[in-house]
Amino acid sequence: MSAEPRASNDQVTITVNDVELSVPKGELIVESVKRLGLEIPVFCYHPRMDPVGMCRMCLVEVGFKQADGSVRMMPKPQAGCTLPASEGMVVLTDSEAVHRDRRGVLEFLLVNHPLDCPVCDRGGECPLQNNTLAYGPSTSRFIELKRHLPKAFPLSRYVTLDLERCIQCGRCVRFTEEVSGEHELAFRFRGAEMQPSTFQLTDFESKFSGNVIEICPVGALTSSKYRFRARPWDLETTPSVCTECSNGCNVWFDHRAGKYVRTNGRVNEAVNEEWTCDRGKFGHGYYNSPSRLTSPLVRKGDGFVPVSWGEAYEEIAKGFDRPGAECAGLTGPRVSNEALYLFRKVVREQFGSPHLDHRWTSAVDGDVSTPSMTIAGLERQASILVFGDLAAELPIVYLRVRKAAVKRGAKVVVLSLSPNECDTFSAASLRFPVGAERDAVKALSGDDAAASRLGWDSGTVSAARSALGQGTAVVASDRALDLPQGLDALRDLRGWAATSGGSFDVWPTGANSQGAEFLDVRPAQGGASTFDALQAAAQGRVKALWLMECDPTTFEGGAGALENAEFVVVQGTQECEAMAYASVVLPMAAPAEQDGTWTNCEGRVQNIGRAVSPPGDAKPAWRIFSELLLRLSPATPFFNPREVLTALAAEFPRFSAVADGVPEEGLVLAEPQVTEVGGA
Ligand code: SF4
Ligand code: SF4
Ligand code: FES
Repeated sequence: MSAEPRASNDQVTITVNDVELSVPKGELIVESVKRLGLEIPVFCYHPRMDPVGMCRMCLVEVGFKQADGSVRMMPKPQAGCTLPASEGMVVLTDSEAVHRDRRGVLEFLLVNHPLDCPVCDRGGECPLQNNTLAYGPSTSRFIELKRHLPKAFPLSRYVTLDLERCIQCGRCVRFTEEVSGEHELAFRFRGAEMQPSTFQLTDFESKFSGNVIEICPVGALTSSKYRFRARPWDLETTPSVCTECSNGCNVWFDHRAGKYVRTNGRVNEAVNEEWTCDRGKFGHGYYNSPSRLTSPLVRKGDGFVPVSWGEAYEEIAKGFDRPGAECAGLTGPRVSNEALYLFRKVVREQFGSPHLDHRWTSAVDGDVSTPSMTIAGLERQASILVFGDLAAELPIVYLRVRKAAVKRGAKVVVLSLSPNECDTFSAASLRFPVGAERDAVKALSGDDAAASRLGWDSGTVSAARSALGQGTAVVASDRALDLPQGLDALRDLRGWAATSGGSFDVWPTGANSQGAEFLDVRPAQGGASTFDALQAAAQGRVKALWLMECDPTTFEGGAGALENAEFVVVQGTQECEAMAYASVVLPMAAPAEQDGTWTNCEGRVQNIGRAVSPPGDAKPAWRIFSELLLRLSPATPFFNPREVLTALAAEFPRFSAVADGVPEEGLVLAEPQVTEVGGA
């Protein structure tokens, strides 16, 4: 983990355990010692939050060099997590006195700790256990009755609180104050009785509550989904990327005996720092769902019969043996770059169909494909205009925007349908009703008549206009395209951003929608977009449909379209409503059941490695297409996703930078440039 910048550019010389080193003035000693490969044990300190000095675990001896060369030690130990480095400082992290102090602090913390490690989820990966083993007393002198408090109190459907285990470090409370800004937790009572709590003991309502489980240094906050399901030493962990939305947060994918068990945040400073949202942290249970598809199925009468992959491919070849204009391929966003590339190849080149699309928004003719800003770049902006409900649409981007505002003083203006989390730190929040999107943009850009039509208060309007100076970063998501005038409003905003010299981004929300954009998974000349293709199916013009990881029945008219189609392939990870209309069903591997690359909203290509095996006969999508291509037009097939990536990069030069491999932190493919909206 790296510390938030707290230090200046000036360097000072300090001495740590007799070693002199130069560090930025003001850097916290707990961070400075890491430069020597040393670690000061901590509980309350967290590098991404302000230090509070609550637990005293980090005590060190500190002195200062005097003019005569002697060192004058301070009479009492100091907390390394609150002490800024200054010239001539002398620090001892390994002295007898330091070890005595650590022992004392741990003995004190353990006085009331239940020591139920054998039944604690944190056992085996617990900083309290680890620090006690390294620095603590080997026996307890405490024979009195321990404090007893409620155990396993459900704070929310995701988080369970065991108050007896709490060491009152305040990390959880500070997270909701400083990082998520939800202020859902606070301490109540004092002294030994002090306990973190939701207000009025109501539900811990949060989009980011899972993070407090990970930063709690003991087993006081545990995951209601993971409780008692595994011990850390039973788990295998694989670096992975969350595919629940387009942020592409880096995560650890923990599995046991080949089954997914839990998701933890993994550090990638450029993407998610170390945080996850609750959708990502708790949304991967479908890996073990009983509704996972495990065998290719072909319709026989009213039901399905399991068939071999070869038979399924034969059925598909027959079903799509018709003019290209009668075929269509639609995909959802939770598919790798390699699968999208081959899907496009099959639909466009083998079926000869121009009807191919991945977009499921109401307006689709906006070209919102080229990101011009990065997630981390948002943090350095002086002013940011947010269009929509960022916390709901792009949760981790929301955390960056909040950080830009709260920690770096960025001016944020919110333009949205309803109140949302961004209001808590915005310089101005402006609301518009559905259908008045263009007026809202006009009003913000200086049209007073539009502002009065919207009934905007003149003070708020001028606060918003003056907050947005030159070079404002405009951030919206593709959800804006579902608003009646969303596309036009985005075009107007694009124009406004261009004249003010700012950046303009409409980031897609689907896991790999950006990859689909980069790979041109869109209609060819004369081809139909998603809803037009479905309408064509409803009218009998499109007769054979391939649906990859998408379910049109969740959209109005979707079921009718499928009902009318003659031949429907449903390819997915789980059973879905669309299967009712399927001629062939193909079981597909989930993201962490295969190797592949994914492109997040900012255009960063990241690798996902295979962590567990797909269930039954399910196969990675790239392999399904590779095997089908071999049958449709015999040629040397793609043997692995790396070969697909090489071919893909040859055809789409944007990907050439990752053709030979994707760096660990991923690589942003798009060069900064202004996004084109309109005129696809
Ligand atoms: Fe610290 Fe955990 Fe207690 Fe919160 S619940 S104060 S994170 S020990
Ligand atoms: Fe996953 Fe998106 Fe949440 Fe990140 S923000 S953890 S990618 S769902
Ligand atoms: Fe320094 Fe807690 S880590 S006081």
